[in-house]
Amino acid sequence: MAKIGDIDVGDFPLLLAPMEDVSDPPFRALCKEQGADVVYTEFISSEGLIRDAAKSVMKLDIYEKERPVGIQIFGAVLESMLKSVEIVEASGPDIIDINFGCPVKKVVSKGAGAGILKDIDLMVSLTEAMVKHTKLPVTVKTRLGWDHDSIKIVEVAERLQDVGCAAISIHGRTRAQMYKGDADWRPIADVKNNPRMHIPVFGNGDVNTPERAVEMRDKYGLDGAMIGRASIGYPWFFKEVKHFMNTGEKLKPPTLEERIEAARRHLQMSIDWKGEILGVFETRRHYTNYFRGIPHFKEYRMKLVTSDHSEDVFAAMDLIEKKFAGYEFV
Ligand SMILES: Cc1cc2nc3c(=O)[nH]c(=O)nc-3n(C[C@H](O)[C@H](O)[C@H](O)COP(=O)(O)O)c2cc1C
Repeated sequence: MAKIGDIDVGDFPLLLAPMEDVSDPPFRALCKEQGADVVYTEFISSEGLIRDAAKSVMKLDIYEKERPVGIQIFGAVLESMLKSVEIVEASGPDIIDINFGCPVKKVVSKGAGAGILKDIDLMVSLTEAMVKHTKLPVTVKTRLGWDHDSIKIVEVAERLQDVGCAAISIHGRTRAQMYKGDADWRPIADVKNNPRMHIPVFGNGDVNTPERAVEMRDKYGLDGAMIGRASIGYPWFFKEVKHFMNTGEKLKPPTLEERIEAARRHLQMSIDWKGEILGVFETRRHYTNYFRGIPHFKEYRMKLVTSDHSEDVFAAMDLIEKKFAGYEFV
């Protein structure tokens, strides 16, 4: 049974990965309904939070039904990180997560995200200061290292644990790899196999089939799987993985009606949360996966992803429901 601080997250929990412009409250709620055990917000800038930038502050919203939820922040300046811990705490999350893994230039160049992998002492001291500054469990999400020649994740994870980090999620790539190549789970297993390690070690990167989740559990012996891209437009992935882990059998994919129902609710929740324009715009990236596999779908997908008004998107969904009624997904 894995625990993050005092929070019981079950046996081999499935965690929804933090994903910018994806892991928002509507999507997190859908993933939670489908079996995600812990969900994380997208990363939120500590500098944005302390400036009270509206966009950063809005990302703190959480729904009761999605708990336990972790809010992820990034930054490299101690005072800003500590101040943002106070701001984050006020919105009542269950966990505070620190992003030490984002590879993008504009983050890394400020020494934040994966940039901190070049200064492990700072990574450890920032984590320690944040742990001391809050009663909430503090978790870390990071990568294997800066590049292939500087992988010291076993030592880094142990140091983070020793300053009070409550769990660690490790993406099996280096910063230099960005998203290229395959995620390597062996160094993550090395972290787990360190006899001094007692906090949960969650694996991340390329868990894109139920079989791979089982491999992460049984072959690599990790404590849980953090899932990102495989869930975009496919929140059922969590349920499918759980079912397969428990029974060894594959669930039937969701029916067209279930997909339409989820897509409608997703859009409606997004509009309720961020307004018509952003709600319509930001739900678009999910539709391809919601309806993946339907032949000759391009015309309908275009309607979904180019309509600017929600009534047109809902009308397209009605049309898809009629046109492809009874379609059997494989
Ligand atoms: C669209 C997108 C946005 C992401 N945003 C974040 C983020 O805000 N914070 C973070 O720690 N990782 C972020 N990531 C990385 C994911 O959390 C995850 O580590 C990565 O996608 C590998 O897992 P996967 O193979 O299951 O997708 C993002 C990934 C994607 C695809």
